[in-house]
Amino acid sequence: MERTPVHAYTISALLLALLALLFHTLLQLGNSWHRYYVNCQRLRCFPEPPRRNWLLGHLGMVGFIPGEEGLTLVSQTVGTFSQAFVTWMGPFLPVLSLVHPDYLKPITTASAAIAPKDYTFYGFLKPWLGDGLLLSNGAKWVRHRRMLTPAFHFDILKPYVKIFNQSTDIMHAKWLRLVASGSTSLDMFEQVSLMTLDSLQKCVFSYNSNCQETSSDYIAAILELSSLVVRRQHRLLLHWDFLYHLTPDGWRFQRACNTVHRFTADVVQRRHQALNRLGREAWLKSKQGKTVDFIDILLLAKDEDGQDLSEEDIAAEADTFMFEGHDTTASGLSWVLYNLACHPEYQKRYGFSNCSMPFSTMCIKESLRLHPPVTAVSRRCTEDIKLPDGRVLPKGTSLLPCPPAREHWPTHLALSQELHRAELRHGRDEGGAGTDAAALHRAAG
Ligand code: HEM
Repeated sequence: MERTPVHAYTISALLLALLALLFHTLLQLGNSWHRYYVNCQRLRCFPEPPRRNWLLGHLGMVGFIPGEEGLTLVSQTVGTFSQAFVTWMGPFLPVLSLVHPDYLKPITTASAAIAPKDYTFYGFLKPWLGDGLLLSNGAKWVRHRRMLTPAFHFDILKPYVKIFNQSTDIMHAKWLRLVASGSTSLDMFEQVSLMTLDSLQKCVFSYNSNCQETSSDYIAAILELSSLVVRRQHRLLLHWDFLYHLTPDGWRFQRACNTVHRFTADVVQRRHQALNRLGREAWLKSKQGKTVDFIDILLLAKDEDGQDLSEEDIAAEADTFMFEGHDTTASGLSWVLYNLACHPEYQKRYGFSNCSMPFSTMCIKESLRLHPPVTAVSRRCTEDIKLPDGRVLPKGTSLLPCPPAREHWPTHLALSQELHRAELRHGRDEGGAGTDAAALHRAAG
């Protein structure tokens, strides 16, 4: 082929562009490496439990093992490093766990712009929960949070108590049948999870799937998604979306997501059509005397500019409530049952048949303190944050603020003592329970 000046210019231009690209990539890599190096140096002031090896860091160790073994290990680590400690997810990703209340405070009081949610841990939920309250940040979160605040009002929640009681009665009837048939043990968390999902499906969608008695594809999909997300967190290789979607777990996740989204979209679309067909006034009239469910609240919600939520937004919020509402309450209730089983003296004297509500509330609160259902939340600092002892949480670090460990928050041990004192006072004076509850709240700070 004949070489013309045009060819020569084109080749030179291409080579130059290639060189520029290479230079840019090298610069980016250099910058990232420098940032990483500086960050590592700055994190050296925080203690670190021994790593498994340089590649896996602490994966498969503290904070990354599920079940009882994992809980015991976390408890031991928190015992040794009672203020804050660093763990590594693989060779490059440090995570700073904050344990002591003095170290948690700068995060809990920081604005959402300085300590936004971090997607290192929450990201795996995104394909399922979309931009619901749990995963959204910034302006979208503020807008939705404002629009959803009425959903948490006590007056709205009150009629739901009837639904909770009905779902609990179904669970109790099932247990009685199991006992009569000679069963001596059962997985409490599984049973309670079905009950909380049953309640939520009725409260969110006004839908009775009878999931405690018969299998439901939708409920099975939520349970499967919850366990798949936890399993993925513990396997470094599966953190990459590309690899995950090639694995059987990834296929199951996708299938379960489709089932959940189909169900939610179907309810939202049908309800939206009914609202449009009848008009707001007639639709509200048709709801009189009935329990307003969460989808109704979302459909009626308007922002300051009079704008509704889109169907996609409504579905994301409903999916988020189904997830956030079932696992936490099932875990909390299971621990309450466990703690009552460990302390039969409380069961005997304040059995559920004749216990006073304030005392049950105290037991629930104490159980939540001893065994918090959410053991950590995920944040990232977008600015350096100074701690009370002068150390600094470096900008860009993933943070895991953990609820205070019971053994290492001496001021809060007062809560256990208060419960004991309250119980003694209650024994002397039946009418004193209200005061005791107030004292307990003061102790809880
Ligand atoms: C014992 C029961 C519960 C516990 C311990 C609990 C705990 C938590 C925690 C720690 C967060 C903060 C997560 C974060 O900021 O990263 C949270 C957020 C949230 N929870 Fe719960 N939760 C419970 C019950 C529920 C229930 C019953 C629902 C709904 C039916 C619910 C809905 C939500 C939602 C929507 C968010 C996100 C709020 C936002 O970011 O604006 N939770 N929960």
